[in-house]
Amino acid sequence: MSVAEFFETMDYGAAPEGDTEARGWIKSHQGAFGHFIDGRFTEPSNPIDTFEPATGAVLATISKGSRADVDKAVKAAKAAQKKWATMPGRDRARHLYALARMVQRHARLFAVLEALDNGKPIRETRDIDVPLVARHFTHHAGWAQLQEKEFPGYAPVGVAGQIIPWNFPLLMLAWKVAPALAFGNTVVLKPAEWTSLTALLFAELATQVGLPPGVLNIITGEGETGALLVDHPEIDKVAFTGSTEVGRLIRKQTAGSGKALTLELGGKSPFIVFDDADLDGAVEGVVDAIWFNQGQVCCAGSRLLLHEPIAETFLARLEKRMETLRVGAPLDKTIDMGAIVAPVQHQRIADLVDEGVKDGARLVQPTVGQVPTSGSFYPPTLLANVVTSSTVATEEIFGPVAVSMTFRTPDEAVQLANHSRYGLAASVWSESISLALEVAARMDTGIVWVNDTNMMDAACGFGGKKESGFGREGGREGAFAYLRSPLWSKAKLRAAWTPPEPMPVAGGFSAPAIDRTAKLYIGGKQIRPDGNYSRPVLTSKGAHVADVGVGNRKDIRNAVAAARKSDSWTKASAHNRAQVLFYLAENLAAREQEFIERLASVSGGGKTKAHKQFEQSLDRLFLYAAYADKFEGRVHEPPLHGVAIAMHEPLGVVGVVCPHEEPLLAMVSLAAPLLATGNRVVVVPSEANPLIATDLYSVLETSDVPAGAFNIVTGSSNELAAVLASHADVDGLWAFGSPELSAQCEALSVSNLKRTFVDYGRATDWYSDDAAGEEWLRRSVDVKNVWVPYGE
Ligand code: NAI
Repeated sequence: MSVAEFFETMDYGAAPEGDTEARGWIKSHQGAFGHFIDGRFTEPSNPIDTFEPATGAVLATISKGSRADVDKAVKAAKAAQKKWATMPGRDRARHLYALARMVQRHARLFAVLEALDNGKPIRETRDIDVPLVARHFTHHAGWAQLQEKEFPGYAPVGVAGQIIPWNFPLLMLAWKVAPALAFGNTVVLKPAEWTSLTALLFAELATQVGLPPGVLNIITGEGETGALLVDHPEIDKVAFTGSTEVGRLIRKQTAGSGKALTLELGGKSPFIVFDDADLDGAVEGVVDAIWFNQGQVCCAGSRLLLHEPIAETFLARLEKRMETLRVGAPLDKTIDMGAIVAPVQHQRIADLVDEGVKDGARLVQPTVGQVPTSGSFYPPTLLANVVTSSTVATEEIFGPVAVSMTFRTPDEAVQLANHSRYGLAASVWSESISLALEVAARMDTGIVWVNDTNMMDAACGFGGKKESGFGREGGREGAFAYLRSPLWSKAKLRAAWTPPEPMPVAGGFSAPAIDRTAKLYIGGKQIRPDGNYSRPVLTSKGAHVADVGVGNRKDIRNAVAAARKSDSWTKASAHNRAQVLFYLAENLAAREQEFIERLASVSGGGKTKAHKQFEQSLDRLFLYAAYADKFEGRVHEPPLHGVAIAMHEPLGVVGVVCPHEEPLLAMVSLAAPLLATGNRVVVVPSEANPLIATDLYSVLETSDVPAGAFNIVTGSSNELAAVLASHADVDGLWAFGSPELSAQCEALSVSNLKRTFVDYGRATDWYSDDAAGEEWLRRSVDVKNVWVPYGE
């Protein structure tokens, strides 16, 4: 063909990236890999094939990890952990920096191997995955350096078991391994069975640049191997990225074990385009949102919500743009989309698209351009005009398929966007800054991109809400996932509470005391318990003091409904919340004598102890009143022209189950940080002395606490905790008490993957400084990162 003819067609020639080095590395291992444990490869065993998605050819075999393999890896990690953790942070920083440099030196090899093994385009592995991996290690080298200064008192968690998916194999390794190692943890990582090769290469090269043996171990295998890792008793922390289904299994499996857990799960992220958006920019946005990485992205903008006035124009431009997308060999530098990771995933996508069409959606796929027929390729796809009830509108397709629907008003857009069991990310397109930021603030997601999409950086916490999981990865927000708070470092198990034996009632002809039965406090009103049962409250010596209502499932439901309704507390300004908390403290101070007497009579220990508890409780209320308008988010400055605003958002409706001891102080210590940050609470007070909570009703009534923000349901802690834990409209649960209570709450929390904060039965010293402050506020909020780019 002549040059003139080339100009005529402007067609792309093939521009393949060389794969000799990558295949050479596989060959140097005879195409068969063992696990990487304690600084070396084990002999290959129980082989499973790993395929090249673009051709279907076998690329290599990896080993399926058995219980013994997992045990060996965990033991190696455990043996290395103490030394690794006691190394000064600045020395660990050197190691992380060496890893970053190693990735940069071998960037091409990693990029090609990743493209071969996963099927994603070299353009992406070369320009996105690998540079971000290096960025992650450099960033976390910095955290290691600063650890002692920035996180005083915090210790590493220990041995981390990390399980990652196949969509960003090396990048997910970096997201998990960099923070773990930076803060003094050691790691056993299980890559996804389809894409283990770059993890094995990474571990091998890490050892060559001096990472001590045992600090990073790789166990390959399928879900079963992952489950063995999660189960291992010497794992202290589990970090998982993958499907919500497996995330749920892991939550159940680890319940009550005391293993720290972070889950980064699926999504169905909205991509909202308003009529004043830069439409061409937004069309390019869709390309990056759903056709990047073949749409196999947990935060993919897969639900297009289009403002009705521009919907038709927008779709026309998008369809035109789809025609120019090139699908082809991942190693071809001129293609936009590579192969789907595996035929089974391809089939799943095809089936879901068929279902969408059956539900009435209009199918759009490019009419020109070749989609290779061998290998597992799927064209860029749009399902236009889907109905909200269609499976494709609600389920994660995890492929290059966008669905679109329309909206009329910003309120409707917000409603549609938040109408999802997921809450990972959202993208908002509008040239009006006030509209875009208003909608961003109202997104029920962990990440929002304004006029942009799929931005990620090591400094900005990544993670979701609702069934998209919990915990953040990256930056300061993510650091705490790999640090153990000083809270319980020396704690012992708390002594169990046994109800006192009632004293015999002395009969007689004098007038009995006026009967008093404390009710429940729901929606700002004192309410009789639904079951109409009450039980006596006795002093520690068994004397009858008063009766208290026994709340049941229905009372909890009513309290949760009241809390849900009370969004004025969440919407109130931080200044306003501070004022109310100060006022509450002031009104409580006015009742000092009465509260001290109650504490002394029911809890025992005399007036001096009661006085101490009261004073400390008051002080704590003042502390959180003070914090209410000072526990603020941050502004990140990621490497883009713009900022990412890390906002603190309340969890929502939170259940609080108080331990039996220090009934006033523990209740205030648990409820006040939640209230200060704008949560609404349903509190189950101490079973030993619930009267101290019921005495609070009148204080709440006179302190401008809005009805429904603070609800109190007395009754059996275990029974009421179970109802709160399984309630789908409770966003968080803080439960302090016995180890069994913790296990029960974590297991039942899988219903909606609520955030739990439990103590595994370890006694908190409520008088210590650790029992209050930023650690507690941090657990009261989720961080939402709103990315705001600058420029025209
Ligand atoms: P998956 O959740 O089964 O696999 C992710 C990782 O977990 C892999 O390493 C796997 O071996 C491991 N695993 C599987 N079962 C396990 C268990 N019981 N215990 C411990 N580890 C276990 O995801 P899969 O099957 O690869 O993909 C299925 C769907 O999940 C996708 O279609 C997509 O919707 C979603 N997904 C979401 C991802 C995300 O980034 N949020 C990533 C991958 C998949």
